[in-house]
Amino acid sequence: MNKRIAVFASGRGSNLSAIIEAVKNKKIRADLSLLVSDNPQAGAIEKAKAAGVRVALVERKDFGSKEDFEKKIIEHLEENKIDLIVLAGFMRMFSPALVERFKFMIINIHPALLPSFKGSHAIKDAFDYGAKVTGVTVHFVDELMDHGPIILQEAVAVAETDTPETLEEKIHKVEHRLYPEAIELFVEGRLKVEGRKVSIR
Ligand code: GRF
Repeated sequence: MNKRIAVFASGRGSNLSAIIEAVKNKKIRADLSLLVSDNPQAGAIEKAKAAGVRVALVERKDFGSKEDFEKKIIEHLEENKIDLIVLAGFMRMFSPALVERFKFMIINIHPALLPSFKGSHAIKDAFDYGAKVTGVTVHFVDELMDHGPIILQEAVAVAETDTPETLEEKIHKVEHRLYPEAIELFVEGRLKVEGRKVSIR
């Protein structure tokens, strides 16, 4: 039976589109079963619907506590028998309890070479810092932000002629190739985690 993936996105969803394409082209051999979003304005929602992917909109404001918000999310994950949670621009941190419940089943993509430039403005931060090299990281999620064991990383050179916008374009291009690659490694069961080290078998 195919593994079942849920993508979580709060924003425009270009990584979601890349994943949809990769599933279509069998570069990812799994079912994209669910999009979870916390933002009714997210472009990702329309993209999922257009591709026939089920959408669960779970807004934080509709719940009294973070625990109840996450309970609803877990309900959706269980109902859909999800094997892998793929964060693609999901702008919320999960509680340690949720991370523990789905240990090594949650992955994230970050637009910098971790541990440099953590946080939600990584591309601009690397640019403003004057970094000559930045890049993309795909990693398992643990209880800390942008911290878990690294699955794949790829460098992106910053040219003197780059602007934050051109750098962002270059980084997204790498993301859209690297994320499907990492997802397929997970789906094939080829990732082995020991401490912080992820080996590819
Ligand atoms: C990506 O740059 C990703 O690295 C970061 O959020 C952004 C999401 O972009 N975590 P999109 O919504 O997939 O276009």
